[in-house]
Amino acid sequence: MIDSRNTLDPVSAVPPGADFTIRRTNESDKPWIRRLLRQYWATEQVLSRGTVHNVVDYEGFAAFQDDEPVGLIAFLIQGDECELITHNSMADSGGIGSCLLAAARNEARARGCRRMWLVTTNDNTPALRFYQRRDFDICAFHRDAITKTRVLKPELPDVGLFGIRVRHEIEMEYLL
Ligand SMILES: CC(C)(COP(=O)(O)OP(=O)(O)OC[C@H]1O[C@@H](n2cnc3c(N)ncnc32)[C@H](O)[C@@H]1OP(=O)(O)O)[C@@H](O)C(=O)NCCC(=O)NCCS
Repeated sequence: MIDSRNTLDPVSAVPPGADFTIRRTNESDKPWIRRLLRQYWATEQVLSRGTVHNVVDYEGFAAFQDDEPVGLIAFLIQGDECELITHNSMADSGGIGSCLLAAARNEARARGCRRMWLVTTNDNTPALRFYQRRDFDICAFHRDAITKTRVLKPELPDVGLFGIRVRHEIEMEYLL
């Protein structure tokens, strides 16, 4: 159970005039979150640094346009670190991804985190651009992390964005 005295209303991250709303995810969101995870990551479980994450059980924020889900950020707070487990926007460049990230940053700060981090794969150059433009820094390179994971999860595709072979995890961090 989250202590609401140490949380922030995610609505405060939505810019004035935005055509979307955001709120915390809850039980009712699980069906579309499952669909979204399969669509983006080919599996409902997300792997990072060798850990399997059952994302539907994680806390997060969701964005909606006309009651339709258009974005998700799910995170895991452990100690003074907040790991972004998944971050997806189904709308194209409307500010939804930035807004969800701002909400998660506010939340992590309010709950005493000092570091926000994530891993992405070597093919995901749009994500590398997106986070670096939002002051995340590349802090580690985990060579062949995906190659090793694929032995356990053969459903992970060999080839990712732009025809790039998916092999490595790139870790990025933002100090809060
Ligand atoms: C990464 C991701 C979540 C970003 O979401 P998004 O909704 O596209 O993000 P935004 O709309 O906030 O920002 C994207 C661009 O649109 C621009 N933008 C923001 N608001 C805008 C607006 N109202 N009109 C036009 N452009 C806008 C931003 O400036 C940004 O460009 P920049 O990166 O050059 O600064 C999304 O691309 C995604 O789902 N990627 C696939 C999954 C993934 O790889 N996730 C990350 C690893 S877990």
